[in-house]
Amino acid sequence: MSKQKTVQSVQLSLLNITEEAASALTDVKASIDVALDAAFDGFVGNEGSVNRLRTMLKAAKLRGDIKLSRVLMFSGPASTGKTELAGRVARFLGLPFLSVDGTSVKTREQLASMINDAIEGHKLQPENLGKVGGVLTIKLPPMVIFIDEFHLVSVPLQEALLTVTDTNNRTMLVERPQRHRLAADNVTFILATTMESKVTNALLTRCDKIELRRYGRDEVAQIVHQAHPHIFIELCQMIADASRYTPREALQIAVNVNDAIAVADPDQTIDDVVREVIRSRGSYLNGITQRDVGLMRILNESRKPMSLTSLVGALHLNSANELTEVIEPYLIYRRWVQISSKGREITREGIEMLRQIDTFEREREQQGKKL
Ligand SMILES: Nc1ncnc2c1ncn2[C@@H]1O[C@H](COP(=O)(O)OP(=O)(O)OP(=O)(O)O)[C@@H](O)[C@H]1O
Ligand SMILES: [Mg+2]
Repeated sequence: MSKQKTVQSVQLSLLNITEEAASALTDVKASIDVALDAAFDGFVGNEGSVNRLRTMLKAAKLRGDIKLSRVLMFSGPASTGKTELAGRVARFLGLPFLSVDGTSVKTREQLASMINDAIEGHKLQPENLGKVGGVLTIKLPPMVIFIDEFHLVSVPLQEALLTVTDTNNRTMLVERPQRHRLAADNVTFILATTMESKVTNALLTRCDKIELRRYGRDEVAQIVHQAHPHIFIELCQMIADASRYTPREALQIAVNVNDAIAVADPDQTIDDVVREVIRSRGSYLNGITQRDVGLMRILNESRKPMSLTSLVGALHLNSANELTEVIEPYLIYRRWVQISSKGREITREGIEMLRQIDTFEREREQQGKKL
């Protein structure tokens, strides 16, 4: 019989709500939904991860919490909206947002000093709890601390931060300028990384991981269109291609387009302006760069699949990561290159693309001669 229990009875006890107060719950939930809709308005795609965040935030609000109980780890490629989402979480919780870059924080003391500056900047009041277990303890005010590029945080600091992920003892011991302990019970920590494999496993397993995946053509076009509604959706798609589906890059191109529109001859079409801007950035309209062409030519000439190492060597790249994270995803998305168990190879579509580029270059050269 107990298996037949509805959510309701458990829900009320989980939220610590009496039967009498339960009648108001529906209205409360609806108003939280409105606030959540506003908080995530305009965030495109990654629906599954956004929904997980919404559930966490809604449950926290229903419980009357001013923080998220678990440390979040946003994991995903560059420009997938990690910083954007962290800011939205802080705004929803109505808390100050401290953003720290993983490269700039090497020690606990540095982190503590940044937190201190942020507290002063926001005119917040930390609470002095006096000596707890013989150590002066300062309770941090409610805030969201976002540590970006977390894989670049030194391993000792990553290990030191393990205690703040501990639900029962969220503290961090700081040795200088004076030995004290920071109690972070009311702090929501959000960590972000583009390279999850470089985060210590101990920490990773203690975080609630929110994966953000790359965006596709329509999603990036929508991100651009939302920010710049005067650029028609078809042109936003062209911008999305040129950006290789990287929102930050696409938004930057759109800003360049706005500048170009501002100074353009009034008779020129917006379409022409967009094309000119993209070409002036040194890539083809579909976002292919000279480096991609080089890669596809090498694969085409190889006539058999190539290993990652030999391709990285042939392209004189500094790291395999540059190939797998920056260059290749777009070429694979467009199905110009594919990876099989035998290695990387060019596809029929890829060969066709090389042919089109050759034709385009030949025509451009001829036009140049005519001029
Ligand atoms: N899903 C999205 N919807 C709307 N805008 C987005 C989305 N993803 C990214 N953006 C926008 O793209 C830009 C880059 O996003 P953001 O800086 O949050 O990425 P990131 O994951 O933090 O990247 P990095 O790893 O390089 O720090 C921002 O202007 C952001 O507002
Ligand atoms: Mg970021």
